[in-house]
Amino acid sequence: MNSTLQGIRDLAQIEFLPILSQECEKVLIELMQKYKPKSILEIGTCVGYSSSIMLLNSEAIVDTIEIDEERQNVAKSVWVAQNLQDRVNAYLGDANEILKDVIKDKQYDFVFLDGPKSRYLEHLNLVLPNVKEGGIILADDVLFFGLVKGEEHVAHKHRTIVRHLREFLSDIENRDDLDVELIKEGNGIAIIRKK
Ligand SMILES: C[S@@+](CC[C@H](N)C(=O)[O-])C[C@H]1O[C@@H](n2cnc3c(N)ncnc32)[C@H](O)[C@@H]1O
Repeated sequence: MNSTLQGIRDLAQIEFLPILSQECEKVLIELMQKYKPKSILEIGTCVGYSSSIMLLNSEAIVDTIEIDEERQNVAKSVWVAQNLQDRVNAYLGDANEILKDVIKDKQYDFVFLDGPKSRYLEHLNLVLPNVKEGGIILADDVLFFGLVKGEEHVAHKHRTIVRHLREFLSDIENRDDLDVELIKEGNGIAIIRKK
């Protein structure tokens, strides 16, 4: 790991920034090496950690969407520090509002769904027509601390997210147009392949 990335991991711990888990980072790197994507879409830039991982482990161009301007500004400096800025297009706004314009006329090899968990299904359905056949969609945190597939009582504050993630998993696991592999490590990672 380079010093910029280590710096972000340290910052994320101090400031409780929701960057991807080490388990998901490992999966992301393996997928970059296996599929060698040339075009990537990410929902949820945060401070540019996962996009840096994807850029450093592929030759892809990354389109990435973030709603928080302060986080996006940190991400921009993170890309510059690693000389990755020429392969990133950063979009600011609510993914639901700007997604259609961002992806218009594009076809992606790889999508990283890592924005608001309650919107995964909406985001998936919006992006699927713009994912190439055989393309991969990675969704992080789908088991949400074990609550999504667990039997235990779900605290009120988590109920909406858990309900939406259950709907998301039930949808993707029962579709003919997708193959799904669910990894239980970390907070649960779904690797979805468009047939
Ligand atoms: C889990 S974090 C992304 C982490 C990042 N992918 C990484 O691993 O380095 C989710 C991000 O999505 C952003 N976000 C939340 N709601 C959003 C929305 N409606 N549209 C776009 N981004 C959103 C948050 O501000 C947050 O930075």
